[in-house]
Order: sequence, then structure tokens, then C-alpha cells
Amino acid sequence: MLDQNPRAVLVLPTGNTPLSLYQRLVQMHQDGTITFSATTTFNLDEYHGLSPDDPGSYAAYMHHEFFDRVDVDPRRVHLLNSLAADVEAECRAYEEAIRQAGGIDLAILGIGRNGHIAFNEPGSDFASRTRRVRLTAQTVADNQTLFADPARMPRFALTMGIGTIMEARRVLLLASGPRKAEILARALRGEVTTDVPASVLRLHPRLTVVADKDAAIGLADPKGEASEEVAS
Ligand code: PGA
Repeated sequence: MLDQNPRAVLVLPTGNTPLSLYQRLVQMHQDGTITFSATTTFNLDEYHGLSPDDPGSYAAYMHHEFFDRVDVDPRRVHLLNSLAADVEAECRAYEEAIRQAGGIDLAILGIGRNGHIAFNEPGSDFASRTRRVRLTAQTVADNQTLFADPARMPRFALTMGIGTIMEARRVLLLASGPRKAEILARALRGEVTTDVPASVLRLHPRLTVVADKDAAIGLADPKGEASEEVAS
């Protein structure tokens, strides 16, 4: 996509799943085969009340894994400011910045073990916009391990909404490891329901799912490490 449209507007995920994607993109940048100088990025989510300098923040993750290693223009990088005094205004401004950028060309997502996309936890409205949310106990348990002091992990976050994500022109869902097998199968083969937020992606006209063998094992027709084009 970036070779065809270097000015693409990307939505970027954090977590364990996309680490190898960022490594690959950094490698391609170092090889001179890709540039991000005209790319605009929006991150999916951020913990609420955590300084961007905190090593547990997604801002710190993004700088460490990607932004500081490529030629992305800092003026085109958008991260939710979770220290904003007026959170609602911050979320509205994020939506407005996406509009100003011309909308999202490609949203890259992971999936939580409870089916969340970004921090849209089960029960999130499919029309939801960028907002502050309470994290579920499962998400807290899964993500706490990334904090040196697990008690410091915030219980609230700012997240791009499901409605916002669904307006992206293309969506790429990534899943890896056996811990994601059950929820990936529910999301792709079960009912489309707010109980499994990722299931909404089946309503997207241009969804691509890339899952490794372990994550794809619960699908009826797993294709190993190949990508499954769910809709195109
Ligand atoms: P993970 O998180 O990649 O760390 O498993 C994915 C997610 O919660 O969306």
C-alpha cells in the first residue's frame, strides 16, 4: 500500500502481535525500500492518565518500536493524549484530525482474548466513536504483565471507536499464538455480536485477516501462515 500511496493514512496497533510487523517495516526502511515521510498515523488507543514518557504507555511503545526507527514526520503522528485535562475534547479533536487527514486508508488491528479491537471491550456499541472506556478484568490481567509494577496499570483508556475503525477504507486484522485461536474463531465464524467486538469486522467490505497457524487452528479451513482474505 505504501509503495502505491506514500501519503497513506494508517491506524496503528500496539501489543505483542504487531512487534514483528514493526520489525519488518523498520528493516524495509533501513533497506531503503520504504519511506514513511509522507505517511500519517493515528494510534488505536492509550491508557488514561499515564504520561507518554511512562515506559508502559503506548506512546513509549510506538517511539521505541517504530517512530524513532523510521523517517516518519512527527507532525503527521497522532497519539491520544491521555493526560488531556478535557478528555472529551481530546477525543473529539482526534476524530476531527482523522477527518482532516481525509479518513483512514488502512486500519491495522490486533484482537484481545475477549474479542476487543483497540480498547473497545465486549458490549461496545458498533457505532461508538473515540472515547474514554473502562478496561475489563481480563484486559487488565493480560496487559498488566507489560508493567514493571502491575499495580500501576491504568483501569481506564482512551480508544478509537468501533464506528471510527469501520470507516477505514481497508482493515487488516492480525492474530498470533494459540491464546487467540478460540476468540478468532468466534469472531470470524460465530455470530456478529457486540459480545465479540471483532465480529463486527465481518461487516467491513475490505477486511483481510492474517493469522499464524496457532491462532488459525480453530477456523474451519485454516490456511496456516497464509492470509485469509475474508472479503475483498
Ligand atoms: P496483544 O494484544 O497483541 O498483546 O495480544 C492485542 C490486543 O489486545 O488488541
